Amino acid sequence: KILDACTLTIFGVGGNLSQRKLIPALFRLEMAMRLPEQLVILGCDIAVHDHDAWIGFVAGILHGIYQKDIDEAALQRFCRRWHYLAIPPGDDAAYGRLAELLQGGGFPPNMVYYMAVRPADYPAIVDKLGNAGLLRQNGGWRRVVIEKPFGYDLLSAQTLQSSLYKHLDEPQIYRIDHYLGKGTVQNVMVFRFANLLLEPLWNHHYIDHVQITHSEIHGIENRADYYEGAGALRDMIQSHLLQLLTLVAMEPPVSLSAEHLRDEKVKVLKSIRPITQNSVHAHAFRGQYSDGIVEGKSVPGYLEEKGVAPESVTETYAALKLFIDNWRWAGVPFYLRTGKRLAENSSAICIRFKNPPQDLLHRNNHQGHSQPNWIMLGIQPNDCLKVELQVKVPGLDLLTRTLSLDATYHKDNDDDFDAYASLLLDVMQGDHSLFLRMDEVEAAWRVVDPVLKVWAMERDFINTYPAGSWGPRGTYRLFDRDDQFWRHSL
Ligand code: BG6
Repeated sequence: KILDACTLTIFGVGGNLSQRKLIPALFRLEMAMRLPEQLVILGCDIAVHDHDAWIGFVAGILHGIYQKDIDEAALQRFCRRWHYLAIPPGDDAAYGRLAELLQGGGFPPNMVYYMAVRPADYPAIVDKLGNAGLLRQNGGWRRVVIEKPFGYDLLSAQTLQSSLYKHLDEPQIYRIDHYLGKGTVQNVMVFRFANLLLEPLWNHHYIDHVQITHSEIHGIENRADYYEGAGALRDMIQSHLLQLLTLVAMEPPVSLSAEHLRDEKVKVLKSIRPITQNSVHAHAFRGQYSDGIVEGKSVPGYLEEKGVAPESVTETYAALKLFIDNWRWAGVPFYLRTGKRLAENSSAICIRFKNPPQDLLHRNNHQGHSQPNWIMLGIQPNDCLKVELQVKVPGLDLLTRTLSLDATYHKDNDDDFDAYASLLLDVMQGDHSLFLRMDEVEAAWRVVDPVLKVWAMERDFINTYPAGSWGPRGTYRLFDRDDQFWRHSL
């Protein structure tokens, strides 16, 4: 598909997100010749750079990634697309200069504005763009990409939404959750809706529980400023993990159009049984990493990280038990868990099946008790599908053991695009399917808000776990039975 000529303006272009994700993703598209031929990129940030210094900075990031294997021709094409504009804090004339620049010719009139800034800055930037006439759709379209978290809780999300609506119509807003751009996440839908085999089993009759995990070995890096006010529940669960849950649990949509898909996802979120303030203890667990050993090196605890308040109780680990009160999932717990400084980098969906109704072979298992079936979908770093089944151990005795059918479906020559690459293209194409609708955002806040409220009141204690471990032991209290346990390594 030939894409419209457009201008992509990135606010916060010097920041962490832009350096780690946006610039590399755009360059990956450049190498694959997938960017619109006439795409111009304007980077905006508070620091003052001249053009050459900025291009040097971009090239430095990419050299750091590709080293001597960099595609020089693509790099030259890429650098030619870039412009830079400094917007120093408090410089009210800056948006006038931005308007002059963008409207002064040379910049394609279709515009994407990407907010890669602190969430607190979204409304002010959109306001200034609106007041400078830069959001009016005359002569071309205007689209605004809002990074997560969309708000801080339900109320602030609604306030942010009202401030966006002063200048934008809904079709102009792209609320990004980069997990939806991951091929392995989209594969959850393919796995469910392109394979008839699973559908009869995909319900409370056969599934015991579902686990959705995202674990990271790194700490908060240099993001204390953001993380202290966010915590793991807001940072990962309200957005990415609840999105994964919707894909696992939703009904087949009427079609894959943006509205049909999002209608089904919203239904799942709305069916989640509200956690009452009294039940927070039974449904939620939080923890914070203390110092420990990660990959053979000693690392500091959260409280020793730069920018963290000495008595902070911000959680770096969070786990939830949720129930989806609908026909398909009645009584099936969904366990969601995430943490920084855990033992491994791993994101996966693990589905545990019930035991057979009559367990004829339970005495024969070499582990001494029956083992259930599991289906595991690896999201990252291993994009794999594993199915655990029971088989007979070769030999004279009728003994059983677990066999893992392990399909890694990523082939070496498959194209490998980061989630941001795919989502940036979607914005340029005007495809909302993988972006969040406001009712989804609201429903997701409704799920976590009661927990956030209770945790905000309990400010004198938080469980800790050593960096490099699998999190606090206390998290096991979320399980209903002794034979339920977290699946760690796939
Ligand atoms: C971001 C969170 O949205 O997702 C980070 O703010 C987290 O804290 C990151 O590390 C994880 O994304 P990915 O793509 O690296 O799994």
